[in-house]
Amino acid sequence: MAQDPSLPDPALVVLVGASGAGKSTWAQARFRSAEIVSSDDLRGVVGSGRHDLDASGDAFALLDLIVAGRVRRGLTTVVDTLGLDVVRRREWLDLARAHGLPAVAVGFETPPALCRSRNAARDRPVPARVLTEQLRAFRGLALDAEGWDRVATVTTDEPAAAPVPQGPQTRSPRPRSGLDVVLQVSRFPWGEDPAAWLTGVARAADEAGFAGLALMDHLIQVPQVGTAWEPIPEPWVTLGLLAGLDTGLRLGTLVSPVTFRPPGITAKTVATLDVISGGRAFCGVGAGWWEREHLAFGLPFPPPAERLDLLETAIETMRALWATGTRPYDGQRVVLPETTCYPRPVHDVPVLVGGAGERRTLRIAARLADGCNVPVDVVEEKAAVLRRHCEEAGRDPAEVAVTVLDLPVVGRDRDDVWERVERLRGRTAAATYARRHHAGTPPQHRDRYRVLEERGVHTVFAALPDLGRPEDLLDVAAMLP
Ligand code: CTP
Ligand code: MG
Repeated sequence: MAQDPSLPDPALVVLVGASGAGKSTWAQARFRSAEIVSSDDLRGVVGSGRHDLDASGDAFALLDLIVAGRVRRGLTTVVDTLGLDVVRRREWLDLARAHGLPAVAVGFETPPALCRSRNAARDRPVPARVLTEQLRAFRGLALDAEGWDRVATVTTDEPAAAPVPQGPQTRSPRPRSGLDVVLQVSRFPWGEDPAAWLTGVARAADEAGFAGLALMDHLIQVPQVGTAWEPIPEPWVTLGLLAGLDTGLRLGTLVSPVTFRPPGITAKTVATLDVISGGRAFCGVGAGWWEREHLAFGLPFPPPAERLDLLETAIETMRALWATGTRPYDGQRVVLPETTCYPRPVHDVPVLVGGAGERRTLRIAARLADGCNVPVDVVEEKAAVLRRHCEEAGRDPAEVAVTVLDLPVVGRDRDDVWERVERLRGRTAAATYARRHHAGTPPQHRDRYRVLEERGVHTVFAALPDLGRPEDLLDVAAMLP
């Protein structure tokens, strides 16, 4: 692309500005990639990735070497770093002088709020206080007084707004074909417009060919997924929004702790969702495990045995209220004077038990549920135990579907897969993270899902750890069998 005609060429161009100010974007739109020497890129060369701060020393040593080599040859060189270090700026300026190359400083006067919002939208944002410090340091600069041949300033415009959703309609559920893959949404990077993001995700999931959309049911974001201050919406309200869209997605939770709501209320909620979605609801239930969210919301958190009792009670109550008629119910754990629950669900709502406890959870699933959700890596052991419990309970194992939760990292190609692993791994070693998340391309996941299907798995709940923009779902469509 063309360089800014007002800048000398060749020249040494030093970018100066806070993270998210748009330095790299500006440079990439104006210079050839070989002309841009970026400390982030060089971290990715000598370190494990662009954000490997431990590799900064080596990256800057390389950067100095490259900049010196190019400037000595009189080649245009753009130094893409924060540029906030006065000693480094002085050295680059002296270098240009020594080789008779014009030296230009480009200051990015991007509004702090825009830097912050861009930073927050990134995969690996810099901590807020670090950014504040950068912005402060930038404000304190007097580039004009440093002796540059030219000082340019860049101010940046806001990017375009998010697309507007269309009006709602509803459709019948997508028919089953072999293995179903349901999108499990566990993080909500919904930016300024939560409803647009949620409906965008649902529409894209439908278009990509997912069989359904499942939500976690937690009151605080769980540490396995994100930070406690990330938004995690109430799932049934959220599913109500999605039920009104023209998709064939099955909609439900994976899973609702029975400690959150009295089971009669869940029965009412799920029946309502089933009616407004045209028979697309499912209901995942579990015993609950996270004490913190219970305490924080003023909910009792009884010991495990009692919670498992509640799980049995909950399934029995829901089934009683969903059954036809309004007669009194006198069951194993539950007695109700009447079962008047209108609207009734319009189809047999599948009840899925989440959890892999072999002694009780799987037994409850075998006796009372339509499916049992277990972690993907232990599916064979757990399915065998579930079958045994079914036989003991006198139930055909085929009536209890085995479903799995999978957390696949999906990338377009080898490079993209690795980039995602590097971005997501946190402090986990890259190889370990990649293995745990079966990191691979869509065809590799599809092959893995075919194997699961052959082993009798009915549904995969796929939670993409880095689901960001709704349209990204179209890129993973090829993983669906
Ligand atoms: N961006 C944008 N519109 C612009 C400039 C940047 O939307 N006019 C976006 C980019 O797409 C990117 C983010 O803002 O997602 C930050 O831009 P970048 O150029 O990467 O910022 P840098 O200043 O280079 O940040 P850093 O120092 O952290 O690399
Ligand atoms: Mg940059």
